[in-house]
Amino acid sequence: MSKLIFTAVAAAATLVITGCAAPQAAAPAPAVAQVNPVVFVDQFESTFGKYEGYRRSGAKGICATGEFVGSADARALSTASAFSGKPVPVVVRFSVGGANPKVADNGKSQRNMALQFNLPDGEQWLMGNINAPVFGASSPEQFLGRVASLQPDPATKAADPAKVKAFADANPEVLLQGKYFASQPVPASFGAVNYWGVHAYGFVNAKGDKQFGKWIFEPAGGVQGLTDDEAKAKGANFLFDDLRQRVKDGKVAFNFNLELAQPGDKLDSATTPLPEGRKKVNLGTLKVTSVAADGGGPCLTINYNPMVMPKGVEPSADPMLAARAAPYAVSQGRRLTEGAKQQ
Ligand code: HEM
Repeated sequence: MSKLIFTAVAAAATLVITGCAAPQAAAPAPAVAQVNPVVFVDQFESTFGKYEGYRRSGAKGICATGEFVGSADARALSTASAFSGKPVPVVVRFSVGGANPKVADNGKSQRNMALQFNLPDGEQWLMGNINAPVFGASSPEQFLGRVASLQPDPATKAADPAKVKAFADANPEVLLQGKYFASQPVPASFGAVNYWGVHAYGFVNAKGDKQFGKWIFEPAGGVQGLTDDEAKAKGANFLFDDLRQRVKDGKVAFNFNLELAQPGDKLDSATTPLPEGRKKVNLGTLKVTSVAADGGGPCLTINYNPMVMPKGVEPSADPMLAARAAPYAVSQGRRLTEGAKQQ
């Protein structure tokens, strides 16, 4: 925590100096406040709205449970107990991106799949994966600046297009994810879209060899998108019932695949995928076996902190990865105090 603050303060100071050189790009955020997780979550609420009881991101969601079985290839890469080959119970949460729990399912926005692997001896592996190969910013300061630039003006109730443009012009990475979503169809199902981990992680085997890679959960039945007309006809709330039906039919499973990094690949950026054509190894299969009937269930109160990983899996130096832990805890604290909800 103190390291996070120290690193982020140093980076924020750099941002302020850069901001002096290019005033049109300045994001309205003071240096130290930028790294405070409370300020982060406050800024989410100011920009996207405050919905009591809900996660401040990925608000509209549903719990499911499943089972993961690791592969022999995974065991060669990592000693993690998740890969033993024995079934591991997983608490799954599917959600639609954003803070608004009433957001429509039929837009070209983010879908999420968060997982909690419950491993032997109380060990856990937590992760929150998204349906894009890149995140919307490459550093916590840049993400906060982006969210601040999108804050609605009290008079017009809309973001100031000049501010949005100035920030994006100075930080072009923040547009990559939106471009990706615009290029893809609306997902037909939570169970028929790819979910990327976005960060690099290190996989350590019994010999102590460490292999870095980036993972993707790929639906075993293939990716399915909707045409614009189909999406319109589906309406704003179809994903939960679709998931229940597909799981009932035994049709929701994902291959947990790892793209292996090679020397020289960039490992510290959530906006830079590994180069095309990297070798892909199947780490195992996740099968979703049940879905909650309503907004309750075992995922409701979980904080899917992606810094919680088992022995045999290690974080990369991506600053976005470590920066997720504290704001998630702040959001969790608020929503639990308010009365947890997700639908
Ligand atoms: C500093 C950067 C980030 C901030 C401040 C942030 C903020 C948040 C917050 C406040 C939540 C709600 C947490 C809760 O109440 O439990 C959340 C959820 C989530 N975030 Fe982030 N996030 C960041 C980076 C990322 C990145 C890089 C990804 C890419 C994979 C990501 C994916 C997700 C997902 C999938 C969820 C939903 C998890 C769930 O279902 O509980 N976030 N984020």
